[in-house]
Amino acid sequence: MSQETSAEQPAGSRLDPHLARYAQRTRSMTASEIRALFAVASRPEVVSLAGGMPNLAALPLDSLGEMLREMTATRGTVALQYGSGQGDERLREQICEVMALEGITAHPDDVVVTVGSQQALDLVARIFLDPADVVLAEAPSYVGALGTFAAYQARVVHVAMDADGLVPDALRATLASLAARGVHPKLLYTVPNHHNPMGVSLAAERRLEVLDIADRAGVLVLEDNPYGLLGFDGSTHRALRAEDARNVVYLGTFSKTFAPGLRVGWALAPHGVRERLVLASEASILCPSAFSQLVVSTYLDRTPWLEQVKSFREMYRERRDAMLESLAAVMPPGTRWTRPEGGFYVWLTLPDGLDSKALLPRAVSARVAYVPGTAFYADGTGGEAMRLSYCFPSPERIRDGVHRLAGAIQAETELVDTFGASGRGAPDATAPAPDTV
Ligand SMILES: Cc1ncc(COP(=O)(O)O)c(C=O)c1O
Repeated sequence: MSQETSAEQPAGSRLDPHLARYAQRTRSMTASEIRALFAVASRPEVVSLAGGMPNLAALPLDSLGEMLREMTATRGTVALQYGSGQGDERLREQICEVMALEGITAHPDDVVVTVGSQQALDLVARIFLDPADVVLAEAPSYVGALGTFAAYQARVVHVAMDADGLVPDALRATLASLAARGVHPKLLYTVPNHHNPMGVSLAAERRLEVLDIADRAGVLVLEDNPYGLLGFDGSTHRALRAEDARNVVYLGTFSKTFAPGLRVGWALAPHGVRERLVLASEASILCPSAFSQLVVSTYLDRTPWLEQVKSFREMYRERRDAMLESLAAVMPPGTRWTRPEGGFYVWLTLPDGLDSKALLPRAVSARVAYVPGTAFYADGTGGEAMRLSYCFPSPERIRDGVHRLAGAIQAETELVDTFGASGRGAPDATAPAPDTV
């Protein structure tokens, strides 16, 4: 390339010669704050309360290995072959049995097996969202869903939550103010059970109300339910889809109840929607992995898998207890947090004036990591809060991490009291150099 050509190009194109070629939609694709954190959080000296990885230590790996060996020997030509675009029929029947635990009556024809529920999110966005379409989503919302909506150039409008989940009055008010501007949202994205990142569940008495509001406003409900079977008291909320088969698309996954590495999830959708989901999925991946599907199907058929889910629940419950007890013991005044009854996450709100992004360097130098609240908002808000995950570290590490975090919050509070809100711009002798964070 000549000297003149490169001088005429915008600055970024010298780093990436393809810059001018990318589709418009790639402009809204940015690495999530969680991705940027992984490098830091995976250092052994750092207690990571950041990632939401399931803890697979409780899986019986030896007997699973034996099951896989036998499956490959006896059904290898099916497992290693292409399969149906909609997914294996037997597995779709089993998925209906799994969903029955949440009160759902469904036909296997209306189930589409996907590569994790993340692909199901992508497919739903692909068939419903044009650029600039509006999606309603809880405030805060699952970061992976926000990334998907951004990839389709949709606009996310957040709706308030409280300790009982999505607030129906806030949903009504948001719809009214959008309607006054001539805006009609296409989807309401919600995680009603053991929410990521807030750790709360939608109260039973709100469920029909939310469905009714969405239906009257002509907004399709997208119910994402990875944690539904992980309620610590062993009880299971009725799915929204159990109440409304017409206006709800339900997403499920085996990632949190079995193994995320298999990447098996699903969508249950009204008939016409299901047809389009299958076409979109075939265009994207031809078919989900036959091997992974057969592993899940065999696992569901041959093992006491609900007992395994119970032991996951007990493990997560012990970790939740460790986190809540140590938060209560050491957090400075003015700090608040949610009390999850299932799932993986606590949502912690900082004392007034503190900012979770500004605090992160100090926390990391104290060897604890979390995800700043801003990751879970499409509009840059959420700095007053953070997500703490208790799913992966041992109870002892969780206690350690919470102690370290409390120390960092205390020190930041003192700084803010001295220099003013958020501590940004104030001298911070303890903050590591940016390249170490
Ligand atoms: C709310 C929510 N939806 C979807 C997913 C994606 O899960 P999967 O592994 O099934 O793609 C996650 C994973 O953390 C999640 O928390």
